[in-house]
Amino acid sequence: MNIAIDGPAGAGKSTIAKRVSKKLGYVYVDTGAMYRTMALYFLRNQIDGSDEKAVSDSLDAVSVEIRYVDGEQKVLLNGEDVTSLIRTEEVGNMASATSKYPAVRAKLLELQRDLARKMDVVMDGRDIGTTILPDAEVKIYLTASVEARGKRRFEELQAKGVACDFEQIKKDIEDRDYRDMHREVSPLKQAEDAYYLDSSDMNIEEVTEAIINRINER
Ligand code: DC
Repeated sequence: MNIAIDGPAGAGKSTIAKRVSKKLGYVYVDTGAMYRTMALYFLRNQIDGSDEKAVSDSLDAVSVEIRYVDGEQKVLLNGEDVTSLIRTEEVGNMASATSKYPAVRAKLLELQRDLARKMDVVMDGRDIGTTILPDAEVKIYLTASVEARGKRRFEELQAKGVACDFEQIKKDIEDRDYRDMHREVSPLKQAEDAYYLDSSDMNIEEVTEAIINRINER
């Protein structure tokens, strides 16, 4: 059994997917981490993210692997564990910019499908229900208003003591949404058979419960 969770940046997909997978004893697969791992390669090698040919030509030199250590997903870039290096804004923006290229997506497609073939997974991303796992038993489209996502991000950064501007954060979220929803290949959109969940006024427990209920109905 496979569960697909798609939605825009900052909707809480990874937090929720982790909880749901723990409750079910499934493996959590974070596909955004794979795009981020490739993005880290482009940044380290000064490959211009706006140059599709340069990005595509470099792909033969990139290997992305996934390992599970104590139930946690680790990503390996050419054999190096880069899990703790891919969470920066810089890497996220590069991932968003380069994930629109067909060659980049093609490179990760089989890796993602293969994981879902071998194990029961909760997989989160942008195109899991539409493209990667069209036959997933349960599909969730998890979203929240820009206001709510911005507020969560703002509070997260403040708690870490990082100086930030609420309006700028909202603008970044809107820009990322636009890019992810308007690319030609596998844009972010709700699969026809996905369950739409707006978490703007829900807490983590409520969202987790709503998804578990949905799964139990199946
Ligand atoms: O979920 P995230 O922020 O870690 O994802 C980073 C970027 O990767 C996101 O802006 C778009 C891209 N991505 C994608 O195109 N398809 C996926 N299945 C997951 C992520």
